[in-house]
Amino acid sequence: MDKLVIRGGKRISGTIAASGSKNSALPVIAATLLAPDGIFTINRIPDLQDVRTFSQLLEHLGAEISFSENILRVSTSNLRNDEAPYELVKKMRASIYVLGPLLARFGHARVSLPGGCAFGPRPVDLHIMAMEKLGAEITIEKGYIDAKVKGDRLQGTTIDFPISSVGATGNALMAAVTAEGTTVLNNAAAEPEIECLCQFLQAMGANISGIGTMTLVVEGVDRLNAVSFENIFDRIEAGTLLASAAITRGEITVTGVRPSHLDSVLKAFQAAGCIVTSGSDYVSLTAPEKLLATDITANPYPSFPTDMQAQWMALMTQADGTSNIIDKIYHERFNHIPELNRLGAHIDIRENQAVVHGPKALTGTKVMSTDLRASACLVLAGLVACETTEVLRVYHLDRGYERIERKLSALGADIERDRYQEFS
Ligand code: EPZ
Repeated sequence: MDKLVIRGGKRISGTIAASGSKNSALPVIAATLLAPDGIFTINRIPDLQDVRTFSQLLEHLGAEISFSENILRVSTSNLRNDEAPYELVKKMRASIYVLGPLLARFGHARVSLPGGCAFGPRPVDLHIMAMEKLGAEITIEKGYIDAKVKGDRLQGTTIDFPISSVGATGNALMAAVTAEGTTVLNNAAAEPEIECLCQFLQAMGANISGIGTMTLVVEGVDRLNAVSFENIFDRIEAGTLLASAAITRGEITVTGVRPSHLDSVLKAFQAAGCIVTSGSDYVSLTAPEKLLATDITANPYPSFPTDMQAQWMALMTQADGTSNIIDKIYHERFNHIPELNRLGAHIDIRENQAVVHGPKALTGTKVMSTDLRASACLVLAGLVACETTEVLRVYHLDRGYERIERKLSALGADIERDRYQEFS
């Protein structure tokens, strides 16, 4: 198994390019199931475990896929299967994204329920509600969602999402684009990754209006085509890299990312005393000598993203004062707290609110990753901890970051990947 070994205390300094976005790549790859012939060429696809897992799932369905130099080529002309098995869905919850397109393409889909993850249950009731509203008959048996279109085609409808759901919005969009008639999605997720999916579907020939807003209107079309497309940059990886400069009192420029995709995070960095400047496709950050405690509450876009909450918590361990961190999307997304406290942080949890008492000097030790963003948080803490920090089980990190240790060492960090054995 892999670990990252970090000798802390080095300032992050320099310019680095962000990778392609994981959370737009996954629904975009799923949407290739909607084109009955042709070959897709999708650029800026990150080389991540989750992308490889999703590609494995599509190959299981019969797609032909090749991937090199961050370019994914996909043909779904010869699909031969409409079942997403438990063994693959369990590895990655986003596999549920095949439900909508398979239903639209074949009129039937059988997808394993994803189960939970490290920070709590991950229900899919909104995905199911959307498919039923579009005219699917759904039965749940033996841990599988079995979906069948009642007539010969999904029917346009109005779907009111009671809460904002990125995944359910994506699935509903992919089911609606070839449905009969008009579909209106109210309280749709407006995350940049959904905007990217809309642009991809539109390039394929879909008819979507309201892109980038919380009300999406889809006019069903008869056919979608394979296209070439460029994925967006990863705003969460960019935010994590910015945090690496902030926590080490350094300075950084991250290129590629669109500043507007990170607006709430950039505002938080500024409130914490960082100097932030940006252009159309880069963000620069210079850390202050003294970081200021800054409260954040994670909410749907454009609010502060839950996927940056753990990274922010690591930063606040070095800020002067007490900061309050609330996650309104995943109330229990706090598995990183015990590990941060083992490094010397002082963080309490009071009723779904984390209270970070800073600044606290951190001392390196072995820490265990529990999920993707918790791993990133521990890497950030290791960059500033004195002595050596070993972040174990970095397979979590590899799901969502393209060899982040190479990027950080190019920016001055003393970090390397190593192997280790776990006690059985
Ligand atoms: C996406 O997950 C992201 N994953 C997550 O990023 C991200 O944390 C999350 O959106 C929120 O922004 C991908 O895009 C692959 P949701 P998703 O549906 O779609 C509840 C990362 O670190 N909900 O927007 O699964 C749910 O429990 C990952 O890259 C229901 O109740 O999230 C949560 O409280 C982690 N019923 C809220 O909605 C449903 O049917 C938002 O979840 C679906 C969701």
